Amino acid sequence: MVERNLTISPTGGGVGAFVEGIDIAAGLDAPSVAALRSGLGEYGVLFFRGQHLRPEQHIRFAEQFADINVNRFFKAVDGYARVAEVRKEPDQSRNIGGAWHTDHTYDVKPAMGSILLAKEVPESGGDTLFANMYSAYESLSDGLQQTLAGLKAVHTSRHAFGAQARYHRDMNGRLGNPQAATQDAVHPVVITHPISGRKALYVNQAFTVRFDGWTQEESKPLLEMLYAHGARPEHTYRFSWKPGSIAFWDNRASWHYALNDYHGQRRLMHRITLEGEALEGCCA
Ligand code: SIN
Repeated sequence: MVERNLTISPTGGGVGAFVEGIDIAAGLDAPSVAALRSGLGEYGVLFFRGQHLRPEQHIRFAEQFADINVNRFFKAVDGYARVAEVRKEPDQSRNIGGAWHTDHTYDVKPAMGSILLAKEVPESGGDTLFANMYSAYESLSDGLQQTLAGLKAVHTSRHAFGAQARYHRDMNGRLGNPQAATQDAVHPVVITHPISGRKALYVNQAFTVRFDGWTQEESKPLLEMLYAHGARPEHTYRFSWKPGSIAFWDNRASWHYALNDYHGQRRLMHRITLEGEALEGCCA
């Protein structure tokens, strides 16, 4: 049991915090889980080092926060249907997650977060960028905040994971089930975060296609402005992986972007995604 040594310290960048004094494989008590949940809500991403978890330990850790969401599109780790593989082999050119996004926003109840564990990392490269959707929202003008408060947006998986998606090229079986890419969901553009109660910007470049009631053409300029704003360096932090590193991110408070700068090398991660809930707007 670890709660007396557990510390959560902000990265000093735009998002995230480092967790120390914890051995996840040894098991966590309820106060430790509560501290991590609250830290997740406050900082958007929690980073851990030296946690060389076996899949069953990874699953046990995840289940302390929420039910596990079995990803429809990613290949699973052999023998562990609930652990997805995020893999890129030396002869492959495309990676998974190589653009700003947050996971599963095409679901009516979007995933609350993911726990990504590094198994094999390239000698150099393969970092992941994270961005803070609280500070992205808070740094908008009062006028734009008021405009966004009244808006909802449409999110879809069709263009990303459907049969025609460019994503499937060069994936060699790492992604599948394109016929399952039929989800659409409408969410508030500014949400009240379910853990922290803070307001966060909730659109993302990968899955948001338009504002509800607007055409794609009408939506594009404002969405692109918000994507550029959210990705400004002051909202971001760049995490470098080692085997046994974990990033536990909250999809409602952050975006992430897996850099694809390690061609010719293998990168293998295990990802568990956690079920979430329908999201409330900010300002009803
Ligand atoms: C993802 O988007 O889930 C993958 C992130 C990463 O591989 O760093």
